[in-house]
Amino acid sequence: MTDAEAKNRIEALTTELNEHNYRYYVLSAPVISDYEFDKKLRELEELEKRYPQYAFEDSPTKRVGGDITKSFKQVVHQYPMLSLSNTYSKQEVVDFINRVKKTVGEDVEFVCELKYDGVAIGLKYENGKLVQAVTRGDGVRGDDVTTNVKTIRSIPLKLRGSGYPESFEIRGEIIMSRQSFNRLNKLREETGEMPFANPRNAASGSLKMQDSAEVAKRGLDCFLYYMPGKNLPFDNHYDNMTEARKWGLKVPNYMAKCKTVDEIFDFIGYWDKARRDLPFDIDGVVIKVNSFRQQELLGYTAKSPRWAIAYKFKAEQAVTTLRSIDYQVGRTGAITPVANLDPVLLAGTVVKRASLHNADIIAKLDVRIGDTVYVEKGGEIIPKIVGVDLSKRPPGAVKISFISVCPACGTKLVREEGEAAWRCPNEEGCPPQLKGKLEHFVSRRAMNIDSLGEGKIDLLFDKELVRNPADLYDLTFSDLIGLEKTYPAEEGKKERKVSFQEKTVENILNGIKQSVEVPFPRVLFALGIRYVGETVAKKLALHFGSIDRLMQADFETLIEVNEIGERIAESLLDYFKKPSNIHLIQRLKDHHLKFEMEQVDDNAGTGKLNGAAIVVSGVFKNFSRDELKALIEKNGGRNVASVSGKTDYLLAGENMGPAKKQKAERLGVRIITEEEFLKMIE
Ligand code: IVH
Repeated sequence: MTDAEAKNRIEALTTELNEHNYRYYVLSAPVISDYEFDKKLRELEELEKRYPQYAFEDSPTKRVGGDITKSFKQVVHQYPMLSLSNTYSKQEVVDFINRVKKTVGEDVEFVCELKYDGVAIGLKYENGKLVQAVTRGDGVRGDDVTTNVKTIRSIPLKLRGSGYPESFEIRGEIIMSRQSFNRLNKLREETGEMPFANPRNAASGSLKMQDSAEVAKRGLDCFLYYMPGKNLPFDNHYDNMTEARKWGLKVPNYMAKCKTVDEIFDFIGYWDKARRDLPFDIDGVVIKVNSFRQQELLGYTAKSPRWAIAYKFKAEQAVTTLRSIDYQVGRTGAITPVANLDPVLLAGTVVKRASLHNADIIAKLDVRIGDTVYVEKGGEIIPKIVGVDLSKRPPGAVKISFISVCPACGTKLVREEGEAAWRCPNEEGCPPQLKGKLEHFVSRRAMNIDSLGEGKIDLLFDKELVRNPADLYDLTFSDLIGLEKTYPAEEGKKERKVSFQEKTVENILNGIKQSVEVPFPRVLFALGIRYVGETVAKKLALHFGSIDRLMQADFETLIEVNEIGERIAESLLDYFKKPSNIHLIQRLKDHHLKFEMEQVDDNAGTGKLNGAAIVVSGVFKNFSRDELKALIEKNGGRNVASVSGKTDYLLAGENMGPAKKQKAERLGVRIITEEEFLKMIE
């Protein structure tokens, strides 16, 4: 490929991929498959690596982040970032409308919009290019989070069309969809990090991260709803926002022009119900005066414009009676109190049970058996009790004292410092914990023994055939044949008894036998060590290579591993301290489960580096320099000692000499991190 050809191809791919991004993230109307998109993106990445001089500033490859911000620069807003006056009362909305009409003294047109529940952001565009993104901060000055915001794919780095002001700001809300939120929290629970309470906190936390490559993975989105300033094409809010849509900006369609109180209340009423079907959270409706001339007549208070108001939705609540509290014991021994309620209809479903989270929440609510309670469905799927109607408290209702012994095994409960949950410490003898661990062990993502699904673990446990995972591998045909299982009566079905026939038994034994082929990372996950979820298990397995090396690691060695924090390290040390766990691992080893990474044939490298000349410099998180050099060779790259015009990459760690870096930058040698390198040879 000649230089000119490369330049053309880079330009064509950049334009095409930006168009696809716009269709996917702004219009939600993609025209190519993700697979095709990725293929083209990779082609562009390759070309940009070889011809960095032709890469565009708004290249879609830049959306994956990579730049680190140590601390965010404070920026003064050109127009202060005001908030809105809020109300939960429809009467106050009527008062607002009447006040506006009276002040203006003529017909007023309102625009109703959704109130997005996220983090406010101001985006500054100059000559069609995104130059700055600033958070609200204290309204006068905010944080410059441009690097992170550039990873949000629905925010155009370069505007489309024409007619936009040379310099202008557009404001909106950065949000996280409920789907991205749930995914993120699941991951955090696996890695032992505190889950976020709601999508707004998650969006806000993500926006403030130092590593933009991490932000890029969080699935943030942005809705735009306001342009301050005077140099706009139209003299009213609605038309300007509609115009901004043509510039590729994501101005949502959930907007309506309204003239009367009834029209405004129709909008509110509709979205109060329909918000459940939106993929993201809204917390109300914003009502704005459309005409700029009228807005000016109305003016501002110190905190908010007089031409707008936010009507906030109440969270959906139901009132019912608390009948009793159950205490559930999880696989790790954590006790969860669950309220049994008189069935009540809430947001379209019948609710009979609600979470009471932990002892502190029960004490704070001072909820008692027989109390009339308020149940709410927040962002979470499981409803929760949020309050008590004290006026209806039955006489003699006594304070709930949280259980002090395990409801399943009677062991005294403990609570570790900084933990919200009480826990049963009897890991080795508490039936629901043992059963929970077995169920986890055979689950799909762990050892995947699906022939042991549908309550069979329960049966084997109750018949005292298995107590821990190693016992599964000792099961024989005669242990299982003829075992009887009773299915309890259900609606329309009588109780039935089934006894294990030959076929079932063979299936079970086969499933167990095959599971010895499961690779080490999943075996490690299957052990059910606290805070060692799938992702963490994979990291540990890759880093240490075998359970023996992992077991020898001390606290310092463990926390040196990327993304392994103190909680995980302590939990691992605890686990390996217990003789019963060491014994379990030994028994599983005797049954030939995989406790080390598969040996890859040293000559079977990926060849992915394709002869690239690489300089390794600095200190790395996961590998030593020598290990990295070995990986380079193995994958078809060449190790070179110093940076020159012929170097393809500088693999840079911490504390690398500045001279080397400058030289690489001067010569246009691409500087890559350890993570990027690992991705290249993946
Ligand atoms: S307009 C000067 N429109 O709610 C008025 N704000 O509680 C600028 N918000 O600061 C704001 N959705 O962060 C506007 N459709 C919408 C909104 C919205 C959410 C946020 C915004 C604002 C806060 C006020």
